Amino acid sequence: MEMLIKQLSNIVEDKFEQCGFDRQYGMVTVSNRPDLCQFQCNGALVAAKKYRKAPIQIANAVLEELKKIDAFESVSVVAPGFININIKDSFLTGYINGMAADENCGSSKAEAPMTIIVDYGGANVAKPLHVGHLRAAIIGESIKRISRFLGHNVIGDVHLGDWGLQIGMVISELKRRKPELPYFDENYNGSYPEDAPFTIDELEEIYPAASKLAKSDENAMEEARKSTFELQNGRAGYIALWKHILNVSVADLKKNYGNLNVEFDLWKGESDCQEYIGEIVDYLKEHGYTYESQGALVIDVAEESDTYTVPPFIVLKSDGASLYSTTDLATIRQRIKDYNPDEIIYVVDKRQGLHFEQVFRCAKKTKIAGENLKFDFIGFGTMNGKDGKPFKTREGGVMRLQDLIEIIKDSVRGKLKESDSIDAEEIEEIASKVGLSALKYGDLSNQATKDYVFDIDRFASFEGNTGPYILYTVVRIKSILRKAQEQGFSVTGKVLEPFSGNERDLMLTLAKFNEAVELSFNDKAPNKICEYIYDLSNLLNKFYHDNRIISEENVEKKQSWINLIALTKNVLKTGLYLLGIEAPEKM
Ligand code: ARG
Repeated sequence: MEMLIKQLSNIVEDKFEQCGFDRQYGMVTVSNRPDLCQFQCNGALVAAKKYRKAPIQIANAVLEELKKIDAFESVSVVAPGFININIKDSFLTGYINGMAADENCGSSKAEAPMTIIVDYGGANVAKPLHVGHLRAAIIGESIKRISRFLGHNVIGDVHLGDWGLQIGMVISELKRRKPELPYFDENYNGSYPEDAPFTIDELEEIYPAASKLAKSDENAMEEARKSTFELQNGRAGYIALWKHILNVSVADLKKNYGNLNVEFDLWKGESDCQEYIGEIVDYLKEHGYTYESQGALVIDVAEESDTYTVPPFIVLKSDGASLYSTTDLATIRQRIKDYNPDEIIYVVDKRQGLHFEQVFRCAKKTKIAGENLKFDFIGFGTMNGKDGKPFKTREGGVMRLQDLIEIIKDSVRGKLKESDSIDAEEIEEIASKVGLSALKYGDLSNQATKDYVFDIDRFASFEGNTGPYILYTVVRIKSILRKAQEQGFSVTGKVLEPFSGNERDLMLTLAKFNEAVELSFNDKAPNKICEYIYDLSNLLNKFYHDNRIISEENVEKKQSWINLIALTKNVLKTGLYLLGIEAPEKM
């Protein structure tokens, strides 16, 4: 469906044109003074410069034509040249009925669908998933869903950290613990066992132990580096061990991400671009992009206009090893070859901003990425505790994601009451959904780039701008619809013109859904969806407060209200879906 605001713009643009002005000046926006009017057009103020006329003159000329428009209830001009518009209830209701008849609540699909890769999640294998990866998963999932909802071809890639030093550490630690395993025998040429020599619980204990040791013991660190190097150069036993680490880790990660309602299309990682590294290094050397600096192979990516230092991009270290930068560059090559994307969106901690700036510049400068490939870095801020420092466990350790989810669930569970219609088992399921909404909404309602304070009491509250409040609103509507059904009513779709101001406001906000989704896509900003569904929930609750839907005696009115709240429920549910949140039936 064409956005309401576009439909209105079309009308006003036609009239600008008819009066001899350029169409572009007829753009209509939602009024920023809702007390004065519903919509406005400020184009006369801009056109004034081009046509050397007073804005009020231009506005008044267009006004004469706009008065003839049937869709408008009233149009007026306010000094110095604003055009204020109220639309007729019949027009608004027509739009609402279009939304109600559409399975996507009237959202418009992208005119030119793009292929977009979203690189998010970024978990490191062998390490437990911790809160640092939470934001990447939550924000990335939402951006993926929003883009896909608009009809783009979207591919979500977890891009695991599966090739770095942490693997070398685990291998060295295993060697210390179980030197007799065949993986460490360089003369062994039989086949390796199918089962991993560790469980996920052991693995999660092995890595921290190894990392602690390497930090305090230079020899251990050296060994870990050596193992990493040998792995990356194809030592058979290490490759076999690495595959075990990968399998065991990925199975666990899938479960954890699954609990968060986060799903990836691709489970690729840093290791997957290995075959491209040689090719890329040759290419870069042949075309004269690289030079040697302190033994390392580098490429300058600084630009004259830089206001901060952008160090050279390192292709290979002095020992010939590849780095994080190398794999990111090679992965771009691989993605272009496999998917030919129009855009790659990286959802990563903002502290990696400089790294990505270097990667993007290098890819463009060396023409590995064509001019049309767009790179987008969504650098998110840190989730802090109430002390303003990165969120930790009470003991000061890194909080594991699983534990965090449990904490939220506990906090929510306390607020849910068993009743005639909800038993203990259902409470668990509801607590999971509500808890997850608290966590995700608490995160997504902030602008991604900002740090935020993880405040469990606020996030889990059933009131205010929170996930549970939105869910509560959806559940409330579901409950009214159930009661209406018991009375023999069903949702028929068609809505009548509003009977009150609150009802009109609800409809006007419903009509903005399309726009909210598009804005959040353009800015890669799930927080805009949050703002929208929060507004909508407030208006629904106001409407509910003012009207007794279930006991309404006028059957036509009652039917229309039932349809209106059913549409509101669908829009809220769709908004929640775009955030990766699911609503329970009851709560
Ligand atoms: N594994 C990385 C980390 O934990 C994040 C990966 C982000 N994506 C990328 N293409 N570099 O910091």
